[in-house]
Amino acid sequence: MAALRSSTMRLLASASSRPSMAARPMASAFNISSSSASSSQSSSRRSMATTSDAPVEAAPKLKKFQIYRWSPDTPSEKPRMDTFTLDLNKTGPMMLDALIRIKNEQDPTLTFRRSCREGICGSCAMNINGVNTLACLCRIPTDTTEAKIYPLPHTYVVKDLVPDLTQLYKQYKSIKPYLQRDTPAPDGREYRQSKEDRKKLDGLYECILCFCCSTSCPSYWWNSEEYLGPAVLLQSYRWLADSRDEKKAERKQAFENSMSLYRCHTILNCTRTCPKGLNPGRAIAEIKKEMSF
Ligand code: SF4
Ligand code: SF4
Ligand code: FES
Repeated sequence: MAALRSSTMRLLASASSRPSMAARPMASAFNISSSSASSSQSSSRRSMATTSDAPVEAAPKLKKFQIYRWSPDTPSEKPRMDTFTLDLNKTGPMMLDALIRIKNEQDPTLTFRRSCREGICGSCAMNINGVNTLACLCRIPTDTTEAKIYPLPHTYVVKDLVPDLTQLYKQYKSIKPYLQRDTPAPDGREYRQSKEDRKKLDGLYECILCFCCSTSCPSYWWNSEEYLGPAVLLQSYRWLADSRDEKKAERKQAFENSMSLYRCHTILNCTRTCPKGLNPGRAIAEIKKEMSF
């Protein structure tokens, strides 16, 4: 019954989309079926009014998505790429919309992180068509090429598109990412700063720790045990640049070695890939400048 109704709707819709030539045969068809009674003529007129309002069903816009799959439940199986097809007319505009639809309708075992779906939480970071980015901020290209989705590169994989961020968070913790001072606040309540000093934190405090930058950095790929990488270094500079912090000397002392900071060779992959438009490369250069004084 539902199929019958939708095909009837399609017939009426296609008729209404052709203005004069096609509308006439439809009208005469209604007249034929209702010629015996005037009451049914008026009901036909009502039906025609409904017909002209019927939505036109767009032709499907099919797009294929190739997605990296690996499960710890079957560790002996090699990672593989699975292909899913979606009609873009029925899918939201972002890559995260596509992933959610695939999970809801085609494969509930597909695993990925997401929370805010507006570029705030940083959890949906992944490699889409060769670029590290946030799935919720990445538009689905409307061309017919297949989209390729991988977890963040050079990370251990927990499952499918979920990277293991243990090492990155360990390094984040190591820089003591919080205000450190011994002097109590003058009013006993708040540590204030001037507008100019507050401005120095712009471009730093917005970092959402998605780690798109660190996992796009060749230096980090090869030295992730010791090199802190762009995300953690940008966070480090966020505290070095804070006029209220009193542990600058200790923070700088932690960089007095050849690996934590100086593995950055200014390749700038980090800045190019940051989905929040931040500039970790510049933050690292600022730390190096501070270190020279
Ligand atoms: S500038 Fe290059 S080497 Fe330095 S952190 Fe960014 S990507 Fe890595
Ligand atoms: S600097 Fe940009 S890419 Fe790097 S962690 Fe922060 S928001 Fe993500
Ligand atoms: S879901 Fe939060 S940043 Fe994408």
